[in-house]
Amino acid sequence: MDLSRSDFPADFTWGVATSSYQIEGATTEGGRGPSIWDTFSATPGRVVGGDSGEVAVEHFHRYAQDVDLMADLGVDAYRFSIAWPRVQPTGSGAVSRAGLAFYDRLVDTLLDKGITPWATLYHWDLPQPLEDAGGWPVRDTAHRFAEYAAHVADALGDRVGHFITLNEPWCSAFLGYGSGRHAPGRSDAGAALAASHHLLLGHGLAVQALRERAPQAQVGITLNLYPVAPAHDGHGTQDVVRRVDGLSNRWFLDPVLRGSYPQDVVDDVAHLTDLSFVHDGDLEVTSASLDFLGVNYYTRHVVAPGALPGTGEVDFASRGLPTTALGWEVDPEGLSDILLRVTRDYGDIPLVITENGAAFDDELVDGAVHDTERVDFLRGHLEAGAKAIAGGVPLRGYFAWSLMDNFEWAEGYAKRFGIVHVDFDTQVRTIKDSGHWYAAFLAGERTQY
Ligand code: NOJ
Repeated sequence: MDLSRSDFPADFTWGVATSSYQIEGATTEGGRGPSIWDTFSATPGRVVGGDSGEVAVEHFHRYAQDVDLMADLGVDAYRFSIAWPRVQPTGSGAVSRAGLAFYDRLVDTLLDKGITPWATLYHWDLPQPLEDAGGWPVRDTAHRFAEYAAHVADALGDRVGHFITLNEPWCSAFLGYGSGRHAPGRSDAGAALAASHHLLLGHGLAVQALRERAPQAQVGITLNLYPVAPAHDGHGTQDVVRRVDGLSNRWFLDPVLRGSYPQDVVDDVAHLTDLSFVHDGDLEVTSASLDFLGVNYYTRHVVAPGALPGTGEVDFASRGLPTTALGWEVDPEGLSDILLRVTRDYGDIPLVITENGAAFDDELVDGAVHDTERVDFLRGHLEAGAKAIAGGVPLRGYFAWSLMDNFEWAEGYAKRFGIVHVDFDTQVRTIKDSGHWYAAFLAGERTQY
């Protein structure tokens, strides 16, 4: 097998991705208000090692150096997120000029280096005062989000041509309000479902705001999608596949791309909610026309009914494939499968892989990180992307997660996803072998394996 950049369309976008809370630090500087992740991280027992994004990788101060790194890698584009509590410290009302000024500087620095900015408006850092007022389970939060989107469009729309409204709303809703694994750490299934709807409503309202104020911009949403496969052909397994696929994939794809919720999932969750939070006209808003759909892919999910019959419990099975440091199976074919499936079921909306990557236990030795597993991971997934294109998928771009090691949410700093290593004590950045490999690939080298 060999693979090169020339196997992809000439106008394909190649990038790297990060998010604000995971890299910026400086959580009390530039007028930034507190977010739910500041509160959550400060709560003992929530994040491994008691870690937080307070310092992170100091990107707020080191952004220029980080943009230089991107230029060294040779990427076309950089996907970053804007911290809502920097733009509106309390989540509503007047904007903070100092907060916006940071993104002004970042965008100008990127443009200077010929790197196209792709800005995500919400990568999980909800202003704490909005959570105090009820958070995403409350409808008003969707309207606050649209106002914030309008402010960002006014400030950056003249230079930012690509906006992503939400990153992985499944995580915001179900990890944030369902399992409580993520901020704000609530465990209430009904609230999680309400949150999912208000996130999508906020998405649709934000699309309207962006269309009005930045009419030339390309606008999309990023969903975490994956194929769901049966662990075995035992009794009830196909129904578990349908349920998990329903709540993780179709619950988000359908309202965004079809303007409806999947009836089988509505029936599945009927004991939790009557969906009275879905108002007339909402689904027209959630299905506002998009320029692209962002897909984050990490692994396939293989499921079976749980040990306790009748409880709805799900077992996640492993198939003995190699795993990453998070125990996720390395399954590049899952990427081509999900891309082909989205195109088959939802038509030819342009797709962009807005995240793909892996955590491994990297070691920095003599100024180098020989992360051959990550090189193989990236190469395998790029090949899967090429396969999807050959199968008719309108795939337009690929962003590696992540530019550099960072705060991996509830896992703290222990799990490293970067193609650039960061020493968290000294903040020294070192390009890993995977970063060198990506740079060589982007420079047109043919890669063999
Ligand atoms: C998806 C999230 O968007 C990102 O923030 C996270 O770090 C990666 N997955 C890896 O878990």
